[in-house]
Amino acid sequence: MASFVWMRLLESTAERYDRGIELLSRGRIGSVHRRLAELATADAVGARVLDLGCGTGGVALACAARGARVVGIDANAAMLEVARAKPTPDAAAAPVAWLELDAMELEDRFPPASFDAVASCLAFSDMAEDTQAYVLEVARTRLVAGGRLLIADEVVPEPAPRRVLHALRRWPLALLTYLLTQTTTRPVRALPARIREAGFVEVVEERLWGDAFCIVRARAPGGEGRAGAAP
Ligand SMILES: C[S@@+](CC[C@H](N)C(=O)[O-])C[C@H]1O[C@@H](n2cnc3c(N)ncnc32)[C@H](O)[C@@H]1O
Repeated sequence: MASFVWMRLLESTAERYDRGIELLSRGRIGSVHRRLAELATADAVGARVLDLGCGTGGVALACAARGARVVGIDANAAMLEVARAKPTPDAAAAPVAWLELDAMELEDRFPPASFDAVASCLAFSDMAEDTQAYVLEVARTRLVAGGRLLIADEVVPEPAPRRVLHALRRWPLALLTYLLTQTTTRPVRALPARIREAGFVEVVEERLWGDAFCIVRARAPGGEGRAGAAP
């Protein structure tokens, strides 16, 4: 959705982020967080989940509510402060470990095979393409064999008329946010192909919201034939 270009403004006022992203997504962001959590926790009770670019904690807390042991990392201290102030979803849930960490430091911070799932919502569109490539590569090595990668983000619509409409709507907004924040976000390009290039298998893309948003799921190689595992 073209309106996600305003995300950078929201991130600069973390205490307003939740209300803002709710408006930008027309009330649908919670359902994406819950969907990622459902997929991230589908294989194992007590799955170890990394929420990459966790922001105010939507995905991380949804995973914790499903019994996962969650680490949420984000480079923005103010966003993490909002996340930390939120209660653990229920008394039985393990508290989320919130870490101020840039995704570029993942490799140093976590040993190989640290996680059963890595999830990320609306963080890849914040990153340069070389950062995305590095993060995908490291995520693969930090997952167990057959572990799940789940990415939800803004993408360019595929049908040409929608692509043109999206660009026409987005560019003025992008210019305005750039003038206000000196940064911008970009719809993520060719995500399934780049996930495959990073060595993941079973890559499946789900397009939502007028084709301009996607959830991509994939697995780290080596877990073929996991008992009862849905793709
Ligand atoms: C639009 S917010 C999304 C927050 C949350 N995942 C959600 O779904 O609402 C993007 C978040 O990604 C974080 N982020 C972007 N690039 C990052 C990086 N290289 N390392 C760590 N966090 C990053 C930002 O600080 C921001 O909190």
